Amino acid sequence: GITRHYKFDIKMQNVTRLCHTKSIVTVNGQFPGPRIVAREGDRLVIKVVNHVKNNITLHWHGIRQIRSGWADGPAYITQCPIQTGQTYVYNFTIVGQRGTLWWHAHISWLRSTLYGPIIILPKRGVPYPFPQPYKEVPLIFGEWWNADTEAVINQATKTGGGPNVSDAYTINGLPGLLYNCSAKDTSKLSVKPGKTYLLRLINAALNDDLFFSIANHTLTTVDVDAVYVKPFESNTIIITPGQTTNVLLKTKPTYPGATFLMMARPYATGSGTFDNSTVAGMLEYQHPKPSTSIKKLPLFKPTLPALNDTSFVANFTNKLRSLANVKYPVNVPKNVDRHFFFTVGLGTNPCPKNHTCQGPTNTTMFAASINNVSFVMPTKALLQSHFQRQSNGVFTANLPTSPLIPFNYTGTPPNNTNVIDGTKVVSIPFNTSVELVMQGTSILGAESHPLHLHGFNFFVVGQGFGNFDSKKDPAKYNLVDPVERNTVGVPAGGWVAIRFLADNPGVWFMHCHLEVHTSWGLKMAWVVEDGMLPNQKLPPPPADYPKC
Ligand code: C2O
Repeated sequence: GITRHYKFDIKMQNVTRLCHTKSIVTVNGQFPGPRIVAREGDRLVIKVVNHVKNNITLHWHGIRQIRSGWADGPAYITQCPIQTGQTYVYNFTIVGQRGTLWWHAHISWLRSTLYGPIIILPKRGVPYPFPQPYKEVPLIFGEWWNADTEAVINQATKTGGGPNVSDAYTINGLPGLLYNCSAKDTSKLSVKPGKTYLLRLINAALNDDLFFSIANHTLTTVDVDAVYVKPFESNTIIITPGQTTNVLLKTKPTYPGATFLMMARPYATGSGTFDNSTVAGMLEYQHPKPSTSIKKLPLFKPTLPALNDTSFVANFTNKLRSLANVKYPVNVPKNVDRHFFFTVGLGTNPCPKNHTCQGPTNTTMFAASINNVSFVMPTKALLQSHFQRQSNGVFTANLPTSPLIPFNYTGTPPNNTNVIDGTKVVSIPFNTSVELVMQGTSILGAESHPLHLHGFNFFVVGQGFGNFDSKKDPAKYNLVDPVERNTVGVPAGGWVAIRFLADNPGVWFMHCHLEVHTSWGLKMAWVVEDGMLPNQKLPPPPADYPKC
């Protein structure tokens, strides 16, 4: 591979959407941010200079960061923030991955405006395991708030109520013609008839899983989270925040001058409020002869599933399977060293004084937890404390490996789930093979949680509705061609089982990729100890590693 250099200047920029202008934090003044293009095996050297008043960190979502955890990016987990006027160089190599990933800010809610695609092409001369597309196009979904970013953050984290929902979804930063004032701000994809396009879809929205569909066209899913899958066709795809999906779009042989809408809107099962509006882009067939006599064809609109169509979601995710062939084998751990069972869901903490709180009794504030521990952000980077063997007062390696007080997770919730606060992690030896069952809870109504693991891909070996049954369910695990990915939706009112080999020393964040749930504490970290061999150890931090 080669080394590719990027310079990311973090600066303010005025941006107007929905007829509202606001000053937002950007990379190089661009919104969405710049695209990173590299090949498998390349080294990326990204120099980030912070010119704004906010503290910043950037995360390269889905990059495995093998023995380069110092470059992973989550604030106070792998690094202290890059402060105003400071510079930090993220330096890492892309090993064994090709497809679409993305980068985003990983501090507070700044990823609402700081995000962009990472496109990883296969090594030179290595073809895709599907027809070579005529063109490749990234489509990145986001959210737009008219309100100031700080106000949105405060509403979500300080008032005890639900978040202030966004005013629009966006495709490549544009809300599209279905919103007020946005006809000109519509993403357009101009296509030729009879060609194959590769759409690189990224869900960078903060708080919503999204359905996506293009009128009168089928999509062939070929890759998720930068891992190839067995191709399958559908009219609609589901994509959670954090996930990436590559689809092939075959354009029709004729349709000159026709326009089809590409639309995305949320899949939502929770009881909270959410933005149920729809973002649209246009797929426009080029006309062979530019002429004024082109007859105006109607706009074709796709039909999207109902907002709470959980069975569509289960069906779609069940179809995702690894290629599992000689060229692209499946390395799912067959034997498990350690079993973990995590409840993931919302709960409540006592309502602070002088707050109006929502929640079952109206006297409590929203909290979210894993095994009833609501994670508290440390003030020193966990990775640094771990490396220096100075975890005292920073974190404790005592996160319960299963719930201390089991209950009927998907039935009527108990009155008190005894949620406690703490910076608790799980520590495991190098090369532990891990099985983790994540059980959704319905304490505040069942909701899908897109859980993201840093530093690893994992295999999704099972999923189901209701309470996980440790006697019956493991017999049904798929160890033949399970999908491999970095973010998985824990089904609303159900569970998911994943396996991974902890072959990457460091501290690795795991959290719900719904920003509001992360803020409320639905997060934890895995400490993976060094192995015995020199190439199984975490090297020291770079010289410009930010200080707290
Ligand atoms: Cu895409 Cu921890 O994040």
